[in-house]
Amino acid sequence: MDTSLLNSLLKALEFSPDNIELRLQIAKIYINNLNYDEAESHLIKVLDKNPTKENKYLLALCYFNQDKFNLTDVILEELIESTESINYLELYCSSLIKQGNNSEALIIYKQILDIDPKYKNEDFESLFKVSNSNNIGQFTDEDALKFLKKPTVNFDNVGGMGKIKEEIDLKIIKPLLHKDLYKAYGKKIGGGILLYGPPGCGKTHIARATAGEINANFINVGINDILDMWIGNSEKNLHEIFETARQNKPCVIFIDEIDALGANRNDINKTAGRTVINQFLSELDGIDSDNDGILILGATNAPWYIDPAFRRPGRFDRIIFVSPPDENARENIFNIQLKNKPIDKIDTKTLAKKSKEFSGADIKASIDIAIEQKLLESFKDGIPKPLRTKDIINAFNKMKPSTKEWFNSAKNYALYANDSGLYDDILSYLKIKK
Ligand SMILES: Nc1ncnc2c1ncn2[C@@H]1O[C@H](COP(=O)(O)OP(=O)(O)O)[C@@H](O)[C@H]1O
Ligand SMILES: [Mg+2]
Repeated sequence: MDTSLLNSLLKALEFSPDNIELRLQIAKIYINNLNYDEAESHLIKVLDKNPTKENKYLLALCYFNQDKFNLTDVILEELIESTESINYLELYCSSLIKQGNNSEALIIYKQILDIDPKYKNEDFESLFKVSNSNNIGQFTDEDALKFLKKPTVNFDNVGGMGKIKEEIDLKIIKPLLHKDLYKAYGKKIGGGILLYGPPGCGKTHIARATAGEINANFINVGINDILDMWIGNSEKNLHEIFETARQNKPCVIFIDEIDALGANRNDINKTAGRTVINQFLSELDGIDSDNDGILILGATNAPWYIDPAFRRPGRFDRIIFVSPPDENARENIFNIQLKNKPIDKIDTKTLAKKSKEFSGADIKASIDIAIEQKLLESFKDGIPKPLRTKDIINAFNKMKPSTKEWFNSAKNYALYANDSGLYDDILSYLKIKK
């Protein structure tokens, strides 16, 4: 670094602190020398007198390089609103990626490619799996395999949900294990089960356990994964997922967030086109391929967004409400979640009584909070202390049941958009008479 130049400029600035050009010059030298902290303080004074776009961009650059991403975004959002410059978009995209917001970043990346189809950036490309603009969205076998797992949980790890286990057994597991018997009686095999309900009540958990129950492979994929991560070609991505299942039978495909395919959602970025929906339906129907040995489970927190075509026979012809656990189920879940944890005698009956409206995830969280508290106490004398009933009850006071909000909106759909009694289960859970 040429410190003598910088020093003489700084000296000059002492005599004329209002010389904005000079100050800007100094800020740029600091940026070149990666001293973003110093550059920032000069730029702020420059901007006070001369708030040009270029100067604002330089300040955003300084913020970005000091991991001040919120400030970076504030400036860039304003700049992009008036000018679609690749520089601005590129920095904004990098900032979003640093914050783990890949889906927003992808949208910005697409915007850059729209402006300049020849644009290249290796970091973005490797993240979004594109090698050039002609080859966008190639989703390989390897990508699909990332979603393939062998679960280690089975129905014993799921508390309550007795009726749902029975239904899955009859509709999904038995047909797979006794295919010939079903055929002999002319009973049709196929179709999937759609689970819906408030978050944290075990939809994903029971899907995983279903695969574990029959020692099958498990593919867990959110619709948003398919829509967001790869540009274009969502149809092909979907097909690849089903192909992977066909090559790894028996296999449970669990498709989460199915509502993201909803035809009547208004957040455009998240809504798939009709072609993706059709592709999905034809994969479900297994028209061109063999779906034998593939079990389909779907889940959603927002069943009301789902296209009615999904509910035709052979598709998701069973729709099951996964309610928050009742008292018995909660006791069960406490026992499951406390297994292998350092506990003293714990009265799970009392815990179940006192955790009204808690979801399975809430129960898990209450145990986590109690354990953290115990850990803190143990640091004092270095002696680990087991969990007691009281610790978990204390944790209850720090939380509120997370399912309430869901019921607030679900209630309206169940009352006013309850075609053919689809949501009767919600009403009876809420003890509302039709
Ligand atoms: N019935 C249950 N039995 C045991 N654990 C449960 C149960 N329901 C929820 N959990 C716990 O809560 C976590 C979150 O539940 P999850 O299945 O992801 O909910 P959902 O998919 O309905 O939003 C699970 O990973 C599991 O640890
Ligand atoms: Mg889930």
